[in-house]
Amino acid sequence: MNLVRQFDEQSITQAVIGRLAACDDPRFARIMTSLVSHLHDFVRDVTLTESEWSAAIQFLTDVGKTCTDKRQEFILLSDTLGVSVLVITLNHPADEGSVESTVLGPYYWQGAPELPRGSNLARGVKGEPAFYSGRVLSTDGRPLENALLDIWSGDGEGNYDMQIPGETAMKARGRIRTDAEGRYWFRSIRPTFYPVPTDGPVGRMLRKMGSHPYRPGHLHIIVSAPGHLPVTTHLFVAGSRYLDSDAVFGMKESLVAQFNRHPAGVGPDGVQLETPFYTVSYDFRLRPAAAAAPAGPEREQLATGS
Ligand code: BEZ
Ligand code: FE
Repeated sequence: MNLVRQFDEQSITQAVIGRLAACDDPRFARIMTSLVSHLHDFVRDVTLTESEWSAAIQFLTDVGKTCTDKRQEFILLSDTLGVSVLVITLNHPADEGSVESTVLGPYYWQGAPELPRGSNLARGVKGEPAFYSGRVLSTDGRPLENALLDIWSGDGEGNYDMQIPGETAMKARGRIRTDAEGRYWFRSIRPTFYPVPTDGPVGRMLRKMGSHPYRPGHLHIIVSAPGHLPVTTHLFVAGSRYLDSDAVFGMKESLVAQFNRHPAGVGPDGVQLETPFYTVSYDFRLRPAAAAAPAGPEREQLATGS
């Protein structure tokens, strides 16, 4: 006679976790154990109904069906639930005064042109001109020569090149290297706030939550330098709308930069501008790779001494 094992609403959790007994990957087993415990606790906590459970499965199915080679609705879901920034913050602690990291977002385009310092990244891009400058330093204060800033942003109306119908060229993108004193400078535009994509299931979720889809104005930058840990970050426009309620929770106060407004006249590059323009100054500090504190599981092992 077969032995029937039956579980009640509490013992089911240990039964599922028990199926990991022969798993030979301890990290995977740890993650699955925690996932199953939290998932079961959640179902019990809200006393999930069958129609809610099937709506959730339909929602996740729709999220999957919305993904294409150009659109990643699962990442957007992770972003809008704060999971992306939580993972990033856990794995890139801003130790020793290094610049904080934040979300990469879906509009990164690898291979932006490497341009001379002082270049205008935003030729033909709508928006108010902005001149960015500063230094890339090691956390010990040493200026970092040949550091690379990989920069991208939307335009002054909140649209990335990838979103503009018929636009096939890179716009408002470029890579700039620092000089011997670690200095960089370039021209672009002052980015404005914009909504994350709302025409899919994540947009429906945000509406149902009563939450807006906007991100405050920001410029994206990946800063890297030889012998140092790269950082994926933003410069946020001080005073931008939605700084206090970023739809993807990526705003960090240390990344808010002042955009100083100047009347039309000669810009920092010596060129006459017919419109008002902005200047922005920001220094990026990077941690030496060797001194990096371990993140994630390694850090946990250190903390518990296991
Ligand atoms: C962005 O900043 O480009 C972005 C980040 C997360 C979701 C959507 C857009
Ligand atoms: Fe963005």
